Amino acid sequence: MTAPAAPVVIRRSRPEDLGAVLRIEHLSFSDPWTADALYGELGADALRLSLVAERAGQVCGYLMAWLVVDQLHVLNIAIDPDARRLGLGTALLAEAARRAEPLGMVDVTLEVRRSNTGARQFYRRHGLREVGLRPGYYGDNGEDAIIMTGPLSDLAALSGPAPAGAGAEGENPD
Ligand SMILES: CC(C)(COP(=O)(O)OP(=O)(O)OC[C@H]1O[C@@H](n2cnc3c(N)ncnc32)[C@H](O)[C@@H]1OP(=O)(O)O)[C@@H](O)C(=O)NCCC(=O)NCCS
Repeated sequence: MTAPAAPVVIRRSRPEDLGAVLRIEHLSFSDPWTADALYGELGADALRLSLVAERAGQVCGYLMAWLVVDQLHVLNIAIDPDARRLGLGTALLAEAARRAEPLGMVDVTLEVRRSNTGARQFYRRHGLREVGLRPGYYGDNGEDAIIMTGPLSDLAALSGPAPAGAGAEGENPD
């Protein structure tokens, strides 16, 4: 994994991130969420944990999750195609885990398209296991979803993309 050229900040998403998030969403998915659906996840409340990764002041990735009993349920994660394989997805997942643990979350769960081999590999790399299938889950093409899960504690221990000295990673408390 190569360190990104500019420092990275992981922070809570805000409604004004919508434009950048929508752009990345459309570059990343064949069946993107609508602006309304994304907007609904960007604000903060007790059931939602949504983060963005900023590099040189530009939003270049995001993660949206719900806090469900003791599960951090990741709804959506995407990185700008120009910024992939730089550790940003890992940094978002790790920071979400670090913020979710004190809120009583124990595991992470998510659904991923069967054909999304890159994302499946990304999650496996971080200790998630494929534990089930939702047949025909995706409405656009009837594709199956693979259910993946793993312990939050493993994710929380992951390091970010920019080790000290290689361009510091900032993590704002907000
Ligand atoms: C999946 C995604 C979020 C990963 O983010 P990322 O910032 O590129 O991932 P990282 O750089 O943190 O990757 C960490 C490790 O995961 C694995 N990995 C990540 N992307 C991978 C890919 N496309 N193929 C195989 N392995 C991959 C690698 O082991 C990688 O380490 P390496 O680069 O040293 O080999 C990103 O590829 C993306 O936005 N994809 C499109 C949207 C999407 O499919 N989201 C998931 C929906 S469920």
